[in-house]
Amino acid sequence: MNLVSSRLLSAAAGALLTLPAFFVQVQAGSEEQVERAPLALVTGSTRGLGAEVARRLGAKGYHVIVHGRSVERGQAVVASIKEAGGSGEFRRADFLSLNEVRELAFGILDDFQRLDLLVNNAGIGSDENGRLVSADGLEPVFQVNYLAHFLLTELLVPMMLDAAPARIVNVSSGAQTAIDFDDLMLEHWEPDGRQIGRPYAQSKLAQILHTYDIAERLEGAGIAVNALHPATFMDTYMVRQAGIEPRATVDEGADRVMQLIVEDVGSGHYFVDGEPARAHEQAYDEAARLRLRELSLELIGHGG
Ligand SMILES: NC(=O)c1ccc[n+]([C@@H]2O[C@H](COP(=O)([O-])OP(=O)(O)OC[C@H]3O[C@@H](n4cnc5c(N)ncnc54)[C@H](OP(=O)(O)O)[C@@H]3O)[C@@H](O)[C@H]2O)c1
Repeated sequence: MNLVSSRLLSAAAGALLTLPAFFVQVQAGSEEQVERAPLALVTGSTRGLGAEVARRLGAKGYHVIVHGRSVERGQAVVASIKEAGGSGEFRRADFLSLNEVRELAFGILDDFQRLDLLVNNAGIGSDENGRLVSADGLEPVFQVNYLAHFLLTELLVPMMLDAAPARIVNVSSGAQTAIDFDDLMLEHWEPDGRQIGRPYAQSKLAQILHTYDIAERLEGAGIAVNALHPATFMDTYMVRQAGIEPRATVDEGADRVMQLIVEDVGSGHYFVDGEPARAHEQAYDEAARLRLRELSLELIGHGG
């Protein structure tokens, strides 16, 4: 068994040491109190859906790690959280580089003792006509939307076990297409000009396979893992950049994400319109889930 998997599984079995809680300083009147704030990481929260979810978590008392590539937009989101009385900080990592994903995870592991909530939200709709290139030589949409989050989750789950009950929310999409395991990097796929292309739909289904897989592996460990389709064509950069007329608001999508954070929704589900729903057929194929996990471990350099 590879290192990451064995660490995750041994942690799931309760073998990790219990670490001291994370504390932040908060002002209450003239007296300074020390209280533990739950810690949340929202990937891709410099704008769009992630930014709104980060602001709502700030208002709920989380210390929010805002993530993305744009320092300027990230700091603006942190400022808005603080202006509303909340607590947050920005961390930059480009998910087109798996090393930057590792650095993000290791920084969080170094600086905090426990993580209560991980919202895997960062995403791109396309490779912008080849403009986006993976530093790891992988298909860029698959890497940003799925594989970077697979790696991040594997690295952070052990510290989430210390925060149990904790939650992982994977922001997927209703746009899903079967993963072709013989052409995972889509080297033999010809772009067909569709607004929502195969790379995006494959990456979004991969997130759901991972959700089901990890929820099963973490059963009984106190970490709820769910995925969702937040809303159809929210008014965000991704949608506008694809030339699609927005049909939903970011608030509508954020309501759906927050539901999976605050309500008792169980674990191992894919939600649409606030209800558990059936994903693409391939998500229920155990062999496909296992194959994806094995290929993903190989791609992140932890193949057995
Ligand atoms: N919009 C919709 O209607 C819709 C529908 C279904 C599902 N979704 C899903 O919802 C999630 C959020 O989408 P959105 O519509 O809010 O998109 P968005 O406004 O374009 O925001 C995308 C976020 O991802 C970050 N990001 C993009 N590339 C990155 C990279 N290489 N490394 C690190 N971060 C990166 C961006 O930050 P930087 O630019 O700072 O890097 C930004 O914060 C996505 O997973 C998307 O697939 C959206």
